[in-house]
Amino acid sequence: MVSTESSSASSPVKIAVTGAAGNIAYSLLWRLAAGEAYGTDRPVELTLLEIPGAVRTAEGVAMELEDSAFDLLTKVTVTDNPDVAFDGANAAFLVGAKPRGKGEERSDLLAGNGKIFGPQGKSINDNAADDIRVLVVGNPANTNAMIAANSAPDVPRDRFNALMRLDHNRAESMLAKKLDILSSDIEQLTVWGNHSATQFPDLSYAAAHGKKLIDQVDNAWYTEEFIPRVAKRGAEIIEVRGKSSAASAASAAVDHMRDWVQGTAGLWTTVARPSEGEYGVPEGLVFGYPVVGENGTWKVVEGLEISDFQRERMDANIAELQEEREAVSHLL
Ligand code: NAD
Ligand code: LMR
Repeated sequence: MVSTESSSASSPVKIAVTGAAGNIAYSLLWRLAAGEAYGTDRPVELTLLEIPGAVRTAEGVAMELEDSAFDLLTKVTVTDNPDVAFDGANAAFLVGAKPRGKGEERSDLLAGNGKIFGPQGKSINDNAADDIRVLVVGNPANTNAMIAANSAPDVPRDRFNALMRLDHNRAESMLAKKLDILSSDIEQLTVWGNHSATQFPDLSYAAAHGKKLIDQVDNAWYTEEFIPRVAKRGAEIIEVRGKSSAASAASAAVDHMRDWVQGTAGLWTTVARPSEGEYGVPEGLVFGYPVVGENGTWKVVEGLEISDFQRERMDANIAELQEEREAVSHLL
């Protein structure tokens, strides 16, 4: 890491986005340029990383960003060199990776996508600013984040997150619709584990206006409809839209980074981050946890009572992530 921590409110925040010619980036970059992650008083410098064959397209994206005349956007750089992309970066959104198609699981992408994240982790290690925050979006996001973190020994491990805010948002939205309330009414919801079909959207603690919500839905809806539908929503989008989610993923990525930087005022959200052993998850696995954002870091909500029903689902996620770790042991 280089000593270019950007803490002054007026100096531009340097944000690197990989996969800049892709679908998610086409939504994400506009939200970042509008100041939605670091605040609307903070200038933004964007660096767009692509593979050589897609640099020309990324240049077109940069032209469109320019044409949008954002007051906050001070500079856009397009490159195929990770060392240039991550040079002095305060934030990195690692989106660049292949999406799955119909009938595939996200873990089917591991062999092809996993190898992207070691070199990018190393480049972040060598070039990014001291306060770098890395959000891995490319699938399978949890294990890719673990690979990147492992390749960056000088960067604190907790700076590598994987995106599970999309799962959290899906769960919140589905529950709000069921109960005819607003998503923003819902507190203390979380999605444990892996960004995969095994994930566990957990309503055990969810509440609205001080009332527990699990008592307001029937158990069959919770276990047979809600949990599997949230967990398989990515596949449902691919089935219906013909392509994997993009704008909702970008929106969730912005939510994640905004809350990481600006905090959650005591409210829970879901973040996949390297385990420090909380709730029996082996250290280093990147696991979805309930967290609050405070002073620029995440604090895992600790001390929750875990029932057998919850434990079983959390353990299935641990087993799956251990299998993924085994499959990429040559990259660690
Ligand atoms: P896309 O195919 O539209 O774009 C991916 C882009 O990444 C392409 O332009 C490609 O050239 C680029 N790329 C590939 N390797 C790269 C590298 N080494 N460096 C830089 N760029 C590289 O895909 P998309 O729809 O934008 O999705 C991107 C990834 O995000 C996929 O893996 C998808 O499964 C994943 N995703 C994750 C979530 C989540 O919640 N975690 C949600 C949606 C999508
Ligand atoms: C999603 O959850 O929408 C993404 O991870 C894309 C996918 O493959 O499901």
